Amino acid sequence: MSTAVSIEDLTFAYRGQETPALRGIRKEVQEGSLVVVMGHGGAGKSTLCASLNGIIPHFFRGRYQGRVMVKGLDVARTKVAEMSRRVGLVLQDFDPQLFSTNVELEMAFGPENLCLARGEIKNRIETYLPFLALESFRRREPASLSGGQEQRLAISSVLTLEPEILVMDEPTTDLDPQGREEVLAIARRLR
Ligand SMILES: Nc1ncnc2c1ncn2[C@@H]1O[C@H](COP(=O)(O)OP(=O)(O)O)[C@@H](O)[C@H]1O
Ligand SMILES: [Mg+2]
Repeated sequence: MSTAVSIEDLTFAYRGQETPALRGIRKEVQEGSLVVVMGHGGAGKSTLCASLNGIIPHFFRGRYQGRVMVKGLDVARTKVAEMSRRVGLVLQDFDPQLFSTNVELEMAFGPENLCLARGEIKNRIETYLPFLALESFRRREPASLSGGQEQRLAISSVLTLEPEILVMDEPTTDLDPQGREEVLAIARRLR
């Protein structure tokens, strides 16, 4: 197994902030592993997620020290467009991430932006709809879904991009126990 992610002494302070949001973070993640990060509000979980796909340091600027390597690429030296193909990020507040009029269109949006062929997009939708137990909701409006279904749709709309690494920011927060179990089961199956 090879190393998928290597965080090497990462310290990051948002611009204008004296206290770093992340300080001296070190972690190696091997391919095929599932890592859960826990911490109280403000601990730096979302900041860590953003540092894996390049939103930090490219969009959120600040004092950045150390290095994050993802699949051999130095995140700080790689374009976000390139990183975001490899690292799929499901946002904590994914409502703004969901804006299509039905589930299938939502899942197609990412691959359409990558200019993939129609047939390939269709294949991916047919693969991930059952994987996320969303088949019976394919024509539904995202806004009409339950919390758990909506979370699974947010995950599916990132999975259709087939990223090598999937990062989910608080994917079980606000879900009932069943919804949480479903999300965790998806994570285990993906692994
Ligand atoms: N865009 C931002 N600008 C300045 N400070 C921020 C920004 N986002 C988060 N922070 C600060 O960084 C720290 C870590 O926040 P965050 O990564 O959101 O934690 P968590 O996701 O664990 O709740 C907090 O002190 C927070 O106030
Ligand atoms: Mg957060």
